[in-house]
Amino acid sequence: MTCSIAPGKVILFGEHFVVEGYPAIGLAVGLYARTCVEEGDLKIYSRQLGPIDPSSKEAKPYMRIIEEASIRYGCRDRYRIYIDSEIPVGAGMGSSAAVNVSLAHSLLETCGVEFTKEDVSRIAYLGEIMVHGKPSGVDNTLSTYGGLVYYRQGLFKRLNTSLPENTALIVADTGVKRDTGLVVREVLERYRRLGGLGKVIYEVAGRLVEEAVVAIEKGDVSRLGELMIVNHGLLFAMGASAWINDYLVHKMINNGAQGAKLSGAGRGGIVIGIARLENTGKIMEALKTEKVNVYLVKPDHEGVRSINTRI
Ligand code: MEV
Repeated sequence: MTCSIAPGKVILFGEHFVVEGYPAIGLAVGLYARTCVEEGDLKIYSRQLGPIDPSSKEAKPYMRIIEEASIRYGCRDRYRIYIDSEIPVGAGMGSSAAVNVSLAHSLLETCGVEFTKEDVSRIAYLGEIMVHGKPSGVDNTLSTYGGLVYYRQGLFKRLNTSLPENTALIVADTGVKRDTGLVVREVLERYRRLGGLGKVIYEVAGRLVEEAVVAIEKGDVSRLGELMIVNHGLLFAMGASAWINDYLVHKMINNGAQGAKLSGAGRGGIVIGIARLENTGKIMEALKTEKVNVYLVKPDHEGVRSINTRI
């Protein structure tokens, strides 16, 4: 049996706008999906969901990945697949991409063909289409390569720096699950309805990402925080926010965060905040009074990889 793990992610800047070809910045995080594959009859088992019927909606991305590996790489069309994930589902932390990436990696390994990370990311992207309809590709890219990444229209560069020292990234998971595909579609509908005005908002979002790259390079936390707040405002304008997201953004800022925003598709999911280390205790304490799970982000620098552990 061959097993691989792939990390989840947080989007720091540019979600939704990235779907229309504008840039985004994301960070792969140390929460993982693990997928093991062995030759055999077709069976899909998830530790969280139990057996998954191969003809069901849930299995569609996995079946698409198996199909692509079979057509393009000459792999079999039947495998036993075991999926396990510690990434919260429907929260905007890239859980589907991490499963698709780890599956694509384990399949190609089991199949015994030579492959690159580019192959893995491309096949996983086909699975993502089955999940979201119109994915930008940022999630599978982050999960495949790891690290802090600037992404635009299928191309990416690793930002050769990390977040400024003495800085923490806090994630608050609202626990409100939503369908990424639906939110993406509704945001795009508003974009089309707004016409020229929508275009201006998207241009501003793109410009903001370029400014964020400069702020990251300079280690300017207060600038980064301010840009996060503006990014949240633009996402609110496009209908990607919900009351709970706005509330947690205020809560983080009022308790000492330099900035905060929804991250991922929004309408629930997660809110991220950036703070100086000395302020994180107060922010985490304040969030404890809300019914939300709070994490400090641990980056992942490696992306997808094989592991020896069996499920
Ligand atoms: C989801 O992590 C980010 C979105 O921009 C969708 C996408 O890029 O495919 C909302």
